Amino acid sequence: MRFRIGLGFLVLLSLCFTVKSQCIRSCDLALASYFVWPGSNLSFIARVMETSALTIGSYNKDVVPNRDSVQVGRINIPFSCECVNGNFLGYMFDYDVNSGDTYHTVAETYFSNLTTVEAMEWFNSYSPTYIPHSQLNVSVNCSCGNSAVSEDYGLFITYPLRPGETLASIAQNVQLDETLLQRYNPGVNFSQGSGFVYIPGKDPNGSYRPLKSSSKGLAGGAIAGIIVAVIAGVLLLAGGACFGFYRKNWRYKPEESNGAGRGPTGISVDKSVEFSYEELSRATDNFSLANKIGQGGFGAVYYAELRGEKAAIKKMDMQASKEFLAELNVLTRVHHLNLVRLIGYCVEGSLFLVYEYIENGNLSQHLRGSGRDPLPWSNRVQIALDSARGLEYIHEHTVPVYIHRDIKSANILIDRNFHAKVADFGLTKLTEVGSTSLPTRLVGTFGYMPPEYAQYGEVSPKVDVYAFGVVIYELISAKEAVVRADSSGSESRGLVGLFEEVLNQPDPKEDLRKLVDPRLGDNYPLDSVRKMAQLAKACTHENKDLRPSMRSIVVALMTLSSSTEDWDVGSFYENQALVNLMSGR
Ligand SMILES: Nc1ncnc2c1ncn2[C@@H]1O[C@H](COP(=O)(O)OP(=O)(O)OP(=O)(O)O)[C@@H](O)[C@H]1O
Ligand SMILES: *[C@@H]1O[C@H](CO)[C@@H](O)[C@H](O)[C@H]1NC(C)=O
Ligand SMILES: *[C@@H]1O[C@H](CO)[C@@H](O)[C@H](O)[C@H]1NC(C)=O
Ligand SMILES: *[C@@H]1O[C@H](CO)[C@@H](O)[C@H](O)[C@H]1NC(C)=O
Ligand SMILES: *[C@@H]1O[C@H](CO)[C@@H](O)[C@H](O)[C@H]1NC(C)=O
Ligand SMILES: *[C@@H]1O[C@H](CO)[C@@H](O)[C@H](O)[C@H]1NC(C)=O
Ligand SMILES: *[C@@H]1O[C@H](CO)[C@@H](O)[C@H](O)[C@H]1NC(C)=O
Repeated sequence: MRFRIGLGFLVLLSLCFTVKSQCIRSCDLALASYFVWPGSNLSFIARVMETSALTIGSYNKDVVPNRDSVQVGRINIPFSCECVNGNFLGYMFDYDVNSGDTYHTVAETYFSNLTTVEAMEWFNSYSPTYIPHSQLNVSVNCSCGNSAVSEDYGLFITYPLRPGETLASIAQNVQLDETLLQRYNPGVNFSQGSGFVYIPGKDPNGSYRPLKSSSKGLAGGAIAGIIVAVIAGVLLLAGGACFGFYRKNWRYKPEESNGAGRGPTGISVDKSVEFSYEELSRATDNFSLANKIGQGGFGAVYYAELRGEKAAIKKMDMQASKEFLAELNVLTRVHHLNLVRLIGYCVEGSLFLVYEYIENGNLSQHLRGSGRDPLPWSNRVQIALDSARGLEYIHEHTVPVYIHRDIKSANILIDRNFHAKVADFGLTKLTEVGSTSLPTRLVGTFGYMPPEYAQYGEVSPKVDVYAFGVVIYELISAKEAVVRADSSGSESRGLVGLFEEVLNQPDPKEDLRKLVDPRLGDNYPLDSVRKMAQLAKACTHENKDLRPSMRSIVVALMTLSSSTEDWDVGSFYENQALVNLMSGR
């Protein structure tokens, strides 16, 4: 899910960010103080908050006695504290709508006032009076601390205030000083009975974690402080902090004390893959619009000539966590013909990823873009085989093993020989946080997500197998994964459903023909198409255990592609003969 920024908020922030607008550094983790309402239960809360009952338990050892009975009261729930859209610290939860849900019930009951009805209306396009069965964007704000207040606290609870509470009662409960709590929440009346405050929270082992990068002047927390100040409407304070923003260079600095060549996590860093911002800026003509070749959900992509090599540079709308930096070093060492190679990265300002440049665009453009020749059937089979090989490699041969989780035609790049390479693998880790006790965020694209993943966030290699099946259907039909509603009043539907309806017929041949990309004309062997469709059907089986592995998919496609090559040569002559006949030669 991607999020657009609130305009009003943008105006406020623009006071601060008139010269350069960058993502504010996040702290990865925050806690949400969830007031358990009567009738709720831990599995429900875990699902809504995109975490597990076990994880919740670890942060509430004294509160949660067992798995499915929660006493009514507050519990702390960990969630990712990210820089949403480069604009505010928080996290966007995806909430699956049930019948009868309103913005009020979602905000005030299911999310226990961790979000507001106003925020629900802001981030969701649906009219409050008609919310269809789909997903809602639910924003929960967070804080990363404030070094100007204290360096001793680096984990914060987003704490919705309830009627009857006071500064004194809250301070008493958490055993912290009243002035400290007030200084983290300047101008907030703790007795107001609504709204929320940020208060320091404890790790599962019961200790407070200190603010990160403490000795480096203004830390990430200061900016979080700005956000708090903006929320509180204390513009004067914000003005002062804007100055702080300019002073602070948000560059990530590995702790030098770890010894030369060692990264923050103690994993050795290969210097050759680290680029300076200056070098990347030079290679992209200062990230000029003319060099921009794409825009993805994570950020813009630029063409670059870097050290004599063509490269694609992804400017991510976020910063790398320490954990992800370690991950990047692993990713630069994964090499396979059918994977887009990560050459290196840069962490000055934001995160930049430097990839080998693949000159022929992505598969989605080839299938649906204008101004391109239709892909012959044999190329389509080859592209399926190449992508399957790339996926098989990350599923079975890398250490650690990867699950892509965002396979789609836009992530399959085509080189000049019409071979395919899978892009963006390993990136899903960016949206996760280092510690294993953290919620896993659902990443992915509608139309490509299998039911067990969309509904329960269950991740396995079979998530990629499913998405790959959808890509095969795309190769056959050139239709999008979600076929949009058209003017004739038909509803949007998934490609999977569309094909299954046809393939489940006793003799699907004729209706299958109708689904084949019209730009192929008659230049395809129906038998090969049918086999591909059958393979896609197996890949998109509702039961993940009945989907084949990427390894067996590769074998199936190899068989298919060898027979398809013969056919295409034959068809070329057939057609040529036809052309000659018609032109009287
Ligand atoms: N290495 C590359 N070489 C050439 N073009 C690239 C390269 N990487 C990306 N592009 C182009 O930039 C576009 C955007 O890429 P990006 O991966 O950021 O977004 P996406 O795949 O469309 O969406 P998402 O961010 O959800 O994965 C791609 O579709 C492709 O056309
Ligand atoms: C949620 O946010 C995304 C990204 O801004 C947007 O495309 C989507 O339409 C939003 N969902 C709803 C229900 O409005
Ligand atoms: C858990 O709570 C949800 C929401 O109130 C409810 O729909 C569900 O039935 C409950 N489950 C159990 C096992 O009580
Ligand atoms: C959230 O706030 C509303 C309005 O103040 C209140 O009625 C409701 O009970 C609160 N929700 C919870 C779960 O406490
Ligand atoms: C979170 O913070 C942003 C920026 O200050 C604000 O616009 C938004 O309303 C807040 N969200 C909630 C749920 O309060
Ligand atoms: C804080 O809010 C409470 C409840 O609305 C009110 O009674 C009190 O006077 C307020 N305190 C201050 C200092 O404004
Ligand atoms: C508690 O856990 C955190 C990480 O969760 C760790 O950084 C810290 O050192 C631990 N503190 C103690 C006293 O064990």
